[in-house]
Amino acid sequence: MEIKDMIDEFLKVFGGSEEEIRVFASPGRVNLIGEHTDYNGGYVFPAALKMRTTIVMRKRDDNLIRLKATDLDGIVEADINKLDSYKGIKWGDYQIGVAHCLKQAGYDIFGADMLYDDTVPHGGGLSSSAAIEVSTALCFATLSNEAKGITEPVDMIEMAKISQKAEHEYAGVNCGIMDQFASAMGKENHAIFLDCKNLDYKLVPLELGGRKIVISNTNKKHSLGASKYNERRSECEAGFEILKKAMPEKNCLGEISMAEFEAHKQLIADPVVLKRVTHVIGEDDRVLGAVDALKCGDIEKFGKLMNASHDSLRDDYEVTGFELDTMVEEARKIDGVLGSRMTGAGFGGCTVSIVEADSVDEFISQVGKNYEAKTGIKPSFYVTETGDGGKEIIL
Ligand code: GLA
Repeated sequence: MEIKDMIDEFLKVFGGSEEEIRVFASPGRVNLIGEHTDYNGGYVFPAALKMRTTIVMRKRDDNLIRLKATDLDGIVEADINKLDSYKGIKWGDYQIGVAHCLKQAGYDIFGADMLYDDTVPHGGGLSSSAAIEVSTALCFATLSNEAKGITEPVDMIEMAKISQKAEHEYAGVNCGIMDQFASAMGKENHAIFLDCKNLDYKLVPLELGGRKIVISNTNKKHSLGASKYNERRSECEAGFEILKKAMPEKNCLGEISMAEFEAHKQLIADPVVLKRVTHVIGEDDRVLGAVDALKCGDIEKFGKLMNASHDSLRDDYEVTGFELDTMVEEARKIDGVLGSRMTGAGFGGCTVSIVEADSVDEFISQVGKNYEAKTGIKPSFYVTETGDGGKEIIL
């Protein structure tokens, strides 16, 4: 929805005048490579999208937060003095969770009327939840800083961390920092090379030599909470504990090189745990290779590493499934596809492919037709533009 239309809807729902209305937005992300490495202290390489959550809001004089979404009926109300009592509500838990975690971090939370509009597809692995969390965090933190007379810009890395905490506590997903970091810190035409051990990051220009990033949505919803996400995380922790016995100086899988892993992997007796760790250590190497390849303009190598990433997520990490694998297989059959892989947590959601510009139309028609014939599900495609991280939109 256009901002102008959102403001009209806001006034219809909450009344009053346009005065004092403010607008905040934060994007979803596509991860180009580096999957299931973030919570292991490894590397990731996401880019923020133009698809985003937009909030049109106005401060209230009382203790109420009132939330409305453009695509949902009804208003969710929360009392700012009882924020921890709303866990498990159907819609609004991300927003209230973020407000609660900000309050715990020392921010003042004010009552507000807030209208949300999302253009990030829900449940598609493009971080629709991080977009909601980070935009909400930025909005409340901005109000708090203003009330305290703090003139520096909101610390967006802190917003990412607070949003991640809300996801852990309110959505029950022990996610890593990638999605919230990308939503907070992204930059148009760049991807973020992030070291999740210490949050060191570099913005790398996304120069693909005329190729396009195509996101293919399997339209098979993934449900992170109900998925095997937390189980994968525990398997990695189990693997790390075993390796740490031989390498006590290490703090996470992300600190273990392929050579060190090769030297000690026989210690891991459980074949499932061994496969999970094999993926994580190999994926870290692939991110380093992919970032170097991009810097050298070697997009063919970048694409090959994307393919290897998907294959490892399919065979060793086992988070793909029929729909994602079919989408990737069909994509790789098209001339002009340099690489194709799942993106995000897996178990449904989206794939990301690098496609020659003049093959994009054929890609969409052929992959669309063949995927639907094999799965019975109509997919969606987005020829992606990258965007900026969370910000206030000045009216
Ligand atoms: C989800 C999580 C991220 C990350 C990815 C997998 O998107 O929120 O933290 O772990 O899955 O790479």
